[in-house]
Amino acid sequence: MKQAVLKNAYEVRNANYAIVHSESEVDFNQFIDVLEIKDGENVIDVGGGYGSIFIRLVNRYPEASFNYDLLDGGKFQLNKAEEKINALLKEKDNQSVVRYLHQDATALNLPEEHYDLVICKMFFHEIPQIYKKSLINKLSSIIKPGGRMVIWNPDLNQSDYQFYTSVIKRKDELAGFESMVQNRHFLLNEDLYDLLNDAGFAGFQKLLTFDYHLNTINRLDEEFSGDKTKLQLWNQYILQIAEQLDDETRERLKINVIGDDVYINFKRGIFSVQKPK
Ligand SMILES: C[S@@+](CC[C@H](N)C(=O)[O-])C[C@H]1O[C@@H](n2cnc3c(N)ncnc32)[C@H](O)[C@@H]1O
Repeated sequence: MKQAVLKNAYEVRNANYAIVHSESEVDFNQFIDVLEIKDGENVIDVGGGYGSIFIRLVNRYPEASFNYDLLDGGKFQLNKAEEKINALLKEKDNQSVVRYLHQDATALNLPEEHYDLVICKMFFHEIPQIYKKSLINKLSSIIKPGGRMVIWNPDLNQSDYQFYTSVIKRKDELAGFESMVQNRHFLLNEDLYDLLNDAGFAGFQKLLTFDYHLNTINRLDEEFSGDKTKLQLWNQYILQIAEQLDDETRERLKINVIGDDVYINFKRGIFSVQKPK
């Protein structure tokens, strides 16, 4: 029997990641610092969504002109980006050139050795495991020799990986994001390192670690359309599987319940690699 094609959840998911992931302007500023974008560089933001990085770049450097390609598989996300970015460029009288590339990252059509910098923020886990290797090889091929890739990723280790992935998967199920349930595959830091290394990247560095404050209540409006039952089911599930964590991990994650909110202290990491000259 022919399998039904799943609707891309990113054609409807209208979340503000700064809210759902409690991303702070300090986190964004630190990320922008490590990008070290120089005049005239070609930049691509793969899985760039609604342009959260580019918007902050322009706000931070309103006089600079960027050559910025924003690539995403969700047309809805790109339209949202284009609307916000056009208004911002007009407001700041900024001359940046932005191209909106609607492409699936598992079948990229991009020029070889063209980019100085590839940005991937909260993106690699969207790609099914079977496509990860070829995607990272492809990203290596589009970067100029001496160019770089900077990655903002969940910072996952052996002790919290299973818990984290189960928590997020349950949320995606409850929110009805079926394509995300099916596609998502999170990477341990060591798996990320291996993939990058195998693709010929050098100089793998973890530049920063910062808190990812997961407050389940932040998803109520953003992802559960205000449905409290879904939030409560998610909370119950989290507390149930948290019982399987070892004491050290449970303590480190600082799990705390206040009313309808479950708090968990996960981490994010910023990683960088270079393509050898
Ligand atoms: C968690 S969001 C992150 C967006 C953005 N990087 C940010 O942090 O603001 C993941 C993004 O990856 C995109 N995406 C998921 N699967 C994709 C694929 N196969 N090809 C291209 N983009 C994809 C989604 O549409 C979404 O915009």
